[in-house]
Amino acid sequence: MLREKLLELREKALESVHSTNSLKQLQDIHVSYLGKKGPITEVLKGMGKLSEEERPVIGQLANDVRKTIEQQIKVRKEKLERKLLEQQIESEKIDVTLPGRKIRTGSHHLLASVVREVEDLFIGLGFSVAEGPEVEEDYYNFEALNLPKDHPARDMQDSFYITDEILLRTHTSPMQARTLEKHKGKGPVRIICPGKVYRRDNDDATHSHQFMQIEGLYVDKNVRLSDLKGVLTVFARHMFGEDREIRLRPSFFPFTEPSVEMDISCFRCDGHGCSVCKGTGWIEILGAGMVHPNVLRMSGFDPSVYTGFAFGMGPERIAMLKYGIDDIRLFYTNDVRFLKQFKQA
Ligand code: DAH
Repeated sequence: MLREKLLELREKALESVHSTNSLKQLQDIHVSYLGKKGPITEVLKGMGKLSEEERPVIGQLANDVRKTIEQQIKVRKEKLERKLLEQQIESEKIDVTLPGRKIRTGSHHLLASVVREVEDLFIGLGFSVAEGPEVEEDYYNFEALNLPKDHPARDMQDSFYITDEILLRTHTSPMQARTLEKHKGKGPVRIICPGKVYRRDNDDATHSHQFMQIEGLYVDKNVRLSDLKGVLTVFARHMFGEDREIRLRPSFFPFTEPSVEMDISCFRCDGHGCSVCKGTGWIEILGAGMVHPNVLRMSGFDPSVYTGFAFGMGPERIAMLKYGIDDIRLFYTNDVRFLKQFKQA
């Protein structure tokens, strides 16, 4: 009786072991057949009723059955584990022949590149780079630049006022006054100052309410107009080609005397006349002049000892000329199709 029962248990157990595909189920089978409350333990409990001869025989058989089941579970477990590992390896397989994914890199904005190019040149000439506030005092933006409150030339620049005395700077020229003030009447002063400026203009292809300027200032003993001309020639050739000539035309700015506007010979037609220079052979690039004695005096420099030159240019204009860009708004609408054309190698 017990013998048949044991053999039957063995058969059922092995069948379950071999038909399962789950490690968890295998564990359950182990518990249910071989555990303390399992059927084999149950059988062994009934051995007391057996005869002396039968007892060791059945005992031996029960042990064999247990060992067989245990061993088959072990074999099955190893097999299932191997299968699982293989599945995992298969699912994680990578195809090394697939083309790689392109990593898209950013680049400098064209204006940043132009500013950097100008900075590098002037640093090489002994200038340093200064930066100042975009929210500026009326005093520095106008008054200290020889533009008192009722001066008609204030109308040259429509301003965004925040209070009566505070405005968004309309140019980078206030950095002239700020820098001079800091030097407490002692030269030399050599700075360029790039930055954003703001004007109450309606935006169109050639106007923007916010744009950039780069200011230059050199104050020392014996600085002359010819020094300005020399520096501007170096600048024009660096930015627009070695063959450039410059010319200075008389102009007016309240903070310089004399004031000039600088033209360069057209880089497209070499001065013969084309659409870029509108047939004149010359292209207007920037405003400049000798620092007005009033400006020097107001910022603590003695105009009988010191003289200086200053200039102000627009990086947008330089970039538009150099790269044939016909709409200033392109710099500020950040269309990547525009921007990526100027990616540096
Ligand atoms: N600040 C002037 C403007 O915004 C440009 C300028 C002209 C700057 C002459 C200068 C200068 O430093 O000397 O139109």
